[in-house]
Amino acid sequence: MTRRDFLTGTVKAIISALVTGVTVVAAYFMYPAGLRSRTMVYCDCMDEDALPKKGVKRAEYRYTQKGREMAVGVFIVKDDSAVYALSPVCTHLGCLVNYNRHKNEFICPCHGGRYDASGKVISGPPPGPLARLPLKIENGRVYIGVMLPAAAAA
Ligand code: FES
Repeated sequence: MTRRDFLTGTVKAIISALVTGVTVVAAYFMYPAGLRSRTMVYCDCMDEDALPKKGVKRAEYRYTQKGREMAVGVFIVKDDSAVYALSPVCTHLGCLVNYNRHKNEFICPCHGGRYDASGKVISGPPPGPLARLPLKIENGRVYIGVMLPAAAAA
């Protein structure tokens, strides 16, 4: 092997490693985030005894992602037949809705979107109902389900 052959081979190996690295990183960022591996994690929210007898109660659940603790608001709704959790995120542009107890409806402060107590749109620009979040009751505690990247859930 000549010196020239050795240097040519080394340069080709370095370029090949760089191209492979760039391709892997580009593929990762181009792959839709929604298709990356995610898993459901149930986060502790409240004691079962704290559930509303009937109506809407604002609560909070927490989880840790990338080393940061996140506190997230949620509305717990109990009607005649079921208990469920509603996201407070308006489906129009993502503002946080407030619950008006006197009107028994959720009102978005940004553009006046209104939802009934079950989360269905009454009026305004929201294109769809408030999202229902997975909820489970286990051993006297209420848990809210959150989809997290598999690595963060581990
Ligand atoms: S963000 Fe809620 S109505 Fe526009």
